[in-house]
Amino acid sequence: MSKVHVIDHPLVQHKMAIIRDVRTGPKEFRELVDEVALLMAYEVTRDMALEDVEVETPMGMAQCRMISGKKIGVIPILRAGLGMVNGIIQLIPAAKVGHIGLYRDPESLQPVEYYCKLPTDIGERDLIVVDPMLATGGSAVAAIRFIKEKGGRNIKLMVLIAAPEGIAAVQAAHPDVEIFTAAIDERLNEFGYIVPGLGDAGDRLFGTK
Ligand code: PRP
Ligand code: URA
Repeated sequence: MSKVHVIDHPLVQHKMAIIRDVRTGPKEFRELVDEVALLMAYEVTRDMALEDVEVETPMGMAQCRMISGKKIGVIPILRAGLGMVNGIIQLIPAAKVGHIGLYRDPESLQPVEYYCKLPTDIGERDLIVVDPMLATGGSAVAAIRFIKEKGGRNIKLMVLIAAPEGIAAVQAAHPDVEIFTAAIDERLNEFGYIVPGLGDAGDRLFGTK
């Protein structure tokens, strides 16, 4: 069964409180999602392999460690996942970014794919799939399935808020995928929205409602 990591760092929790607040407008919402994604990326990449290197300082030689060859891919689930990309690539500028376009059919709550463009070498990369919301889990399960079909293997899922239902769905479909979240909320409502959640992440990011 895949592991679930709740990132309980005080800075993340503080910023999440403001993100959730109904009074927070799109500009501040976007900035905070960016910042939380950056802080979470720090934890998500904690297990990156290091190699020994020797560095000449002005005072002599220092034995240091740097990240070894392994490459990173960031894959936002469109559209709300886009809000989490910038924070991660600020930290890992060499990361490549793939995109998967999915929307949730409001009636069936089933994910519908409308776009998929991934780095050609995804099989050689550690992949971080990002989406602010893991609700029923339908979108994340489908996105990870597409990525695996295209050759992706080392996949982590990073979300801001997860519902227990979404976690269970990802664990059942993709037990190899570790989940990183800033919060696990209580439940889904009858429309598949996370309660208390933050509302519609895409609309809040892009001001479409
Ligand atoms: C939201 C969210 C996830 C999905 C989560 O996207 O960003 O992708 O819903 O729900 P699920 O776990 O039940 O699949 P939405 O479909 O609203 O599209 P958007 O990002 O374009 O707004
Ligand atoms: N998608 C969202 O944007 N918010 C939710 O609470 C659930 C799905």
